[in-house]
Amino acid sequence: MIGAPVTIDRAAVRDRFVRMRARTRALFALVDEGAYFDRPIPLRNPIVFYEGHLPAFAVNTLVKKGLGRPGIDGRLEEIFARGIDPATEAAAVARGNPAWPSRETVQQYAVAADRLLTDVISHADLERDDHPLLRRAQALWAVLEHEDMHQETLAYMWHQLPHASKRRPPQYVTAPPRLVSHGPAETRARIPAGSVTMGTDLREAPFAWDNELPPHCVAVDAFTIDVHDVTNRQYLEFVEASGAAPPPFWEREGGHWYQRGMFERVILPDDWPVYVTWADADAYARWRGGRLPTEAEFHRAAFGTPGGGERQYPWGDSLSGRLPANVDFRRWDPEPVGAHPDGASAFGVHDLVGNGWEWTSTPFGPFDGFEPLPSYPEYSMEFFDGDHYVLKGASPATPRTLLRRGFRNWFRPRYPYVYATFRCVES
Ligand code: AVJ
Ligand code: FE
Repeated sequence: MIGAPVTIDRAAVRDRFVRMRARTRALFALVDEGAYFDRPIPLRNPIVFYEGHLPAFAVNTLVKKGLGRPGIDGRLEEIFARGIDPATEAAAVARGNPAWPSRETVQQYAVAADRLLTDVISHADLERDDHPLLRRAQALWAVLEHEDMHQETLAYMWHQLPHASKRRPPQYVTAPPRLVSHGPAETRARIPAGSVTMGTDLREAPFAWDNELPPHCVAVDAFTIDVHDVTNRQYLEFVEASGAAPPPFWEREGGHWYQRGMFERVILPDDWPVYVTWADADAYARWRGGRLPTEAEFHRAAFGTPGGGERQYPWGDSLSGRLPANVDFRRWDPEPVGAHPDGASAFGVHDLVGNGWEWTSTPFGPFDGFEPLPSYPEYSMEFFDGDHYVLKGASPATPRTLLRRGFRNWFRPRYPYVYATFRCVES
């Protein structure tokens, strides 16, 4: 096509990029210099890797592979190219400890990359029909969403650092006293049979990851779902009754239970959603005589309406202004369940997007007709191994720019670090 229409709003993209980079820098500024080469999560790379990975991924993907232009430093762009989620700690260590560059080197690289990316966003041919990486400006969106996702990775990695290695933002209160407590009278909602759209329609969104495509409809039978996420209090009953292991964010001392918050330990808040692994969630659901929702059931409860329509978000179709949900770094920790009644879905189910990702019983896999994303073919494909489960929704540390109905997250069933909760369903 000659003269494909320019649909990229360069000023808006530049603004998003600048604000995203500022938030990434603010995240790194929370951590003590002394922890820079530490691995807060033994399975993941040390902190230094991430400060280099974000700019290097942008340069590798958009500038080099997409636009065919030279990068900045080939050696750094290789060291920082990739590195996620190996199966074991041994694999993480064996992957190598390249002699990591100094922080000064990494930060100089990031400054150069930011300059290059800003220039490219302002002037380059970001959108071209004749190049798979540039069709619909795919490489640009992949770069932006990649960093958005890693901001959450950083948050949950930081969570594992000792509190003494972090600076708490001055106004932040981990467990503010709860002022209103008005949970709905109903604790379960009956969802009638209906049909849901899975995945993302590229006529409605500028970008989707490969695992969201192609969009398609799925029929869902009637089911009953918890109106709220399972709380710490409910999960404690299970631990006490069954001898199950306590969840990863809990600690016990002197006969009391505590939750490890981002910046301090607090007496276990009864009404926070419990953050658990898939295996913990599945065990609890069975103990209660229920099960975890499928990915399609989640869609139905979150986005369906009694009239048979579908919304983009549980609360409606708008993503502007102050959202009725604990997302986008509003907090560094959960809020009590049901704190945003105006964010409930059309079926009256609370907190489906925000306050913690929600585990589903659906193994992560491709939709029929899957094709790997040209700008990042390994992104999903490497994880179609039957050993990862789909999570839906969002956590307090999910940037608002990722809140898309079709977005799918995935982790291994015993991955204990992610901000993930759950609720039960019955057929
Ligand atoms: C989609 C969140 C599971 O963090 O492992 C980042 C995102 N992929 N860099 C991950 C990702 C490559 C991925 N998750
Ligand atoms: Fe990455």
